[in-house]
Amino acid sequence: MHRPSLLLSLLTLLTLLTAAPLPAIGYRPLPHLRPNSSDLRFGDSKKYEGSSEFVHLRYHMGPVLTGSITVHTIWYGQWQKSQKKIIREFIGSFSAVNAKHPSVAGWWDTVRLYTDQTGANISRTVRLGEQKNDRFYSHGKSLTRLSIQSVIKSAVTAKTKPLPINPSNGLYLLLTSDDVYVEDFCGQVCGFHYFTFPSIVGYTLPFAWVGNSAKLCPGICAYPFAIPEYMQGLKPLKSPNGDVGVDGMISVIGHEVAELATNPLVNAWYAGQDPVAPVEIADLCEGIYGTGGGGSYMGQLLNGKDGATYNMNGIRRRYLVQWLWNHVVSYCTGPNALDQ
Ligand SMILES: *[C@@H]1O[C@H](CO)[C@@H](O)[C@H](O)[C@H]1NC(C)=O
Ligand SMILES: *[C@@H]1O[C@H](CO)[C@@H](O)[C@H](O)[C@H]1NC(C)=O
Repeated sequence: MHRPSLLLSLLTLLTLLTAAPLPAIGYRPLPHLRPNSSDLRFGDSKKYEGSSEFVHLRYHMGPVLTGSITVHTIWYGQWQKSQKKIIREFIGSFSAVNAKHPSVAGWWDTVRLYTDQTGANISRTVRLGEQKNDRFYSHGKSLTRLSIQSVIKSAVTAKTKPLPINPSNGLYLLLTSDDVYVEDFCGQVCGFHYFTFPSIVGYTLPFAWVGNSAKLCPGICAYPFAIPEYMQGLKPLKSPNGDVGVDGMISVIGHEVAELATNPLVNAWYAGQDPVAPVEIADLCEGIYGTGGGGSYMGQLLNGKDGATYNMNGIRRRYLVQWLWNHVVSYCTGPNALDQ
């Protein structure tokens, strides 16, 4: 994970030295939405779509998800049916190879370029798994990184319809409603992934958390469908599914699932020296959604007849999802790339 500033890095280091370390591998607010951050990767570089000779993404020999992947979801708090549908259809689109070009399945093709020690590629098949509702906020409306693991434990050990335990090819996606605060939400992260600790949950399960930022910080975590207050004069883009918070979550979910597939136990594909704060395949392309993207420019996007902005098609819907690092060509790629 790329750190916002040197001061923050030092603070992080101090925290790590003084408290039990709980690394966050997260989707952070975009570089230009962090007012005074010095972004070394894109800030001063006009390089094409994140391409850089300084990026040394390496494989660290750990497992990746080569067998067909199942995404189990936990809906924490109050969710509308229509919101669940937008998200479920997005995940259901990962393997929908018949969707119109440029497609979500075409976006997943970049993830499939990653392999394990045996040369096996990441699976093309991503399935929707079981769902668990946690409507009554079992662990309150303010979660910490640790209490998130307890929420997952409750879901996999529930008396009625527990989520299946599937450590090798299951991913657990905890989605919190717009009235739930999670440690570091808005300021430092919009979502993160890690794996559960056997001491808390009983198993090592790769999981991600993504929050609905609609009430807390849409200008940060649902950008560009909402605009931060200090960026006066800029108009938000129209979101493709009419729900700013959920449409904003889509790219974060894509980011986290792509990283979970390529780095589920945080010992496989990442760049940087520090396994506690690795830079992963989606971190390298934050803010890039189309050809020419970089810095504060998102790149070439598509516009629907309804005026909504998107960059890929799923089954029945459109989505705006960030690009991913392609280690074969060493730059960010996505299905809506224009031939140049
Ligand atoms: C950013 O820098 C400006 C000018 O140096 C300063 O006034 C402002 O408070 C800073 N903002 C943050 C969020 O640190
Ligand atoms: C599997 O990964 C290799 C190495 O990156 C790549 O050349 C190949 O195209 C990938 N296969 C698929 C089906 O994506």
